[in-house]
Amino acid sequence: MQRSKIKKILECEQAGGQFTVSGWVRSVRQSQNLAFIDLVDGSSGAGLQVVLEPSIKAYALADSLHTGSAVTARGTLVESPAKGQRFELKAEDLVLVGEADPETFPIQKKKHTLEFLRQKAHLRVRTNTFASVFRLRSYLSHAIHEFFRGRGFFYIHTPIITASDCEGAGEMFHITTADKKHFFGRPAYLTVSGQLEAELLALGLSEVYTFGPTFRAENSNTPRHLAEFWMVEPEMAFYDLQDNMDLAEDFIKGILEYLLAHDREDLEFMERWYQPGLLGQLESIAASEFVRLSYDEAVKLLEASGKSFEFPCSWGHDLQTEHERYLTEEKVRGPVIIHDYPAAIKPFYMRLNDDGRTVGAMDVLLPRIGEIIGGSQREERLDVLERRIRKLGLDEKNYWWYLDTRRFGTAPHSGFGLGLERTLLFLSGMANIRDVIPFPRTPGSAEF
Ligand code: 4AD
Ligand code: MG
Repeated sequence: MQRSKIKKILECEQAGGQFTVSGWVRSVRQSQNLAFIDLVDGSSGAGLQVVLEPSIKAYALADSLHTGSAVTARGTLVESPAKGQRFELKAEDLVLVGEADPETFPIQKKKHTLEFLRQKAHLRVRTNTFASVFRLRSYLSHAIHEFFRGRGFFYIHTPIITASDCEGAGEMFHITTADKKHFFGRPAYLTVSGQLEAELLALGLSEVYTFGPTFRAENSNTPRHLAEFWMVEPEMAFYDLQDNMDLAEDFIKGILEYLLAHDREDLEFMERWYQPGLLGQLESIAASEFVRLSYDEAVKLLEASGKSFEFPCSWGHDLQTEHERYLTEEKVRGPVIIHDYPAAIKPFYMRLNDDGRTVGAMDVLLPRIGEIIGGSQREERLDVLERRIRKLGLDEKNYWWYLDTRRFGTAPHSGFGLGLERTLLFLSGMANIRDVIPFPRTPGSAEF
């Protein structure tokens, strides 16, 4: 059977075509002896109106159709006499594929709270909101691949099982089997970042990116943290920190432009229901120049702000979300890149600056979100790197392969990580990170 997607049907130039469509009933009403079905199949937020006339056999099914039922309809596309849509499908046949009992199906045609829908994550894609968010997530993934493909980057796959703590923050999930102490002959973890392996491949392929799931056992129940999230990590040989920041800025703008060009419909939906002014904000950021501040300058601005922060800001401490939001939302009113952080608060792999107290790190901060990208220039000097590893109390033996790349043809290189869900929070206007990943994993919660 040749089935058509509703999005394609709604884009038809003229009426008259014959179509078969399958989808789910969003709502159904009967009036003047006709049954009107609002049918969706996920391909677009707009539904197709399917009209059942008493003259067809399937009309007898009208009473058994409810919100959530799966159906296949066949018919002719005709001009719609009603307001709100150009075409409707005059059904010649309709099959009820799967029933949905209105007494028990939880997703009825009314506004449910996002908290309620989180408990129904197995069914929430049937709502307009989550269908939009998950379509945006797919377009965002395409945007990422398109951006890097256009620049000749190679897409690589870094391992999910690892034996080293890249970020050195100790927030790793241990993995083994029930009956073995160390399945891999040594302690092993779920990766917190593909960076170290991406570096190995960049020092050969020059420009690469990895894009996959990462895991952090940080016990933070915030609207911005997940225990399992997706990260995009480009890594580039012969890039210094400046090149790295330039790429990060172009990357964010490139993504915004792609989404504005390819999925405006869903952005408009999110603007209407969740984030007034969303499209204007995305457009202005895509056209803006990101402000760049050194960590020193950022701390001075925060100290001079006159704000009473919950965590007072002083040199040597990491910036808190409240500091990031002040800088992006009040001070700069746009994206900010902060660079050259104190060495003491950053991981071992970041390149030590000549001042001996800061490293070539950079974070990109966005309004509403705070940190969306974290990256750095990497330490390419063997002796400096070895000293740093020892100083942080890490076991050099675990990094012999990483150190080897600094022994053989070492080169300056840089990279960063962009959090996919944080990006989607920004793009969709959703407020909670649990609402932009289909099945969120957070402390105490791994249902579905
Ligand atoms: O700043 P992070 O920790 O950087 C790294 O992991 C580097 N190794 C990346 C690199 O240089 N290749 O994480 C990068 C981004 C953050 O800016 C944030 O957007 C996201 O990953 N992120 C999280 N997103 C959701 N939940 C969490 N628990 C996250 N932790 C980080
Ligand atoms: Mg970070």
